[in-house]
Amino acid sequence: MAEAATSPHTAAPRTAVGFAYDRDALHCDDVLIADIVREVGTPTYLYSAATIAIRLRTLTAALAGTPHALHYALKANSTLALVTMMRTLGARADANSVGEIEVALRAGFAPGEILFTGVGKARAELERAVTLGVYAINAESAGELERIDAIARAQDRRARVALRVNPDVDAETHPHISTGQRHNKFGVPLEDAPALVRAMHARAGLHVAGLHVHLGSQMMSLEPIMRAAAAIVGVARALKAEGVPLDHLDLGGGLGISYDGTPGPDPQAYAAILGAAARDTGLSLIVEPGRTIVGPAGALVARVVDVKPHQAGHFVVLDAGMTELLRPALYGAFHRIVPVTRRHAPAARCDIVGPVCESSDILGLARELPLPRVDDLLAILDAGAYGSAMASNYNRRPLPAEVLVQDGRWRTIRRRQTIDDMLAGEL
Ligand code: LLP
Repeated sequence: MAEAATSPHTAAPRTAVGFAYDRDALHCDDVLIADIVREVGTPTYLYSAATIAIRLRTLTAALAGTPHALHYALKANSTLALVTMMRTLGARADANSVGEIEVALRAGFAPGEILFTGVGKARAELERAVTLGVYAINAESAGELERIDAIARAQDRRARVALRVNPDVDAETHPHISTGQRHNKFGVPLEDAPALVRAMHARAGLHVAGLHVHLGSQMMSLEPIMRAAAAIVGVARALKAEGVPLDHLDLGGGLGISYDGTPGPDPQAYAAILGAAARDTGLSLIVEPGRTIVGPAGALVARVVDVKPHQAGHFVVLDAGMTELLRPALYGAFHRIVPVTRRHAPAARCDIVGPVCESSDILGLARELPLPRVDDLLAILDAGAYGSAMASNYNRRPLPAEVLVQDGRWRTIRRRQTIDDMLAGEL
């Protein structure tokens, strides 16, 4: 993690972006985290607006030489204020359900700025997307194409549709988030794509917008992306040679981030691969990044509620666990965990766990840090993507509060759920 931009002993203005220490106190965009938490309580997600803006602008600048549209993947974090921020920063939206489409609309996106992706779209969802006239629907099967066509014709419309291709390329990531191999449920086999696109072209209710591929998430190697791009470029060129017009090439999301503080994949190199694919086909490019934009911008702040010794160290029990941040329990994911106020004491082996009655409710095993005490605050870093979005009410735990730090100030963007909120729909 970046240290504070000034020496620990000066009081000069700080200019640190994201999560950084000043002396022993962790800050978010220069705001003292302990101050925020004193008012908001724990567990709380904190987001650095400056980090989001920088990461979005860096990727956009890297793609500047290629006609493109960046559709932020709402599934990574669809908290309304953050989605609104993406729009004001110039992104478009990628939605994976009607719920995400409605959030995008409420965040001010026009239907024509929204892509609709997803492996299982219910009829009502397709009807809503067609009626709205979303920018494109990424279709996953021949059956779905037929259903979209029928819905559009019934409304006397032409729905813009891209075909999701499964290139059978290993994303070299966790199997749970790998989507582009033959045995995965996503898309249609590469070899079926040309015939399906021709058939789409002939349907009165469809406008063939393009081709789509999304290999997987948290990809740390650019190799697979290159292979998938080459595969889809081959299909696009063959169709072009036959005179089947396409508008865009959607190369999905999936760029990984570093979770251990080492440098992550280079957005410039990533953009170069995507740009070359677009140039090869003469099509405009669409990207659907989620994690790379918001992942490093968020931290989950939790309070220590118990500390107890075990034979090889200590269990440090927090008031946050798999209900707030599922990634470690679900994927064995690693997140750095750091004290909000540093103690100067010898490091001890800490197994940092949550309060949920599951042995998988672990946030970090065998972490070396000065033994925290009850009521200390810890921050779980790089939790901006797939953190709050995957939180649940298991054990009847209320969803955490969320706070956005922007321009030296902070505001609650989602208040902590109350028991009444949780029970609101129950009869
Ligand atoms: N486009 C499509 C079609 C997707 O399925 C996804 C992610 C994205 C874009 C955005 O991918 P990103 O740029 O965020 O990698 N819950 C998991 C990640 C699931 C990703 C699902 N699809 C995790 O916490 O690692």
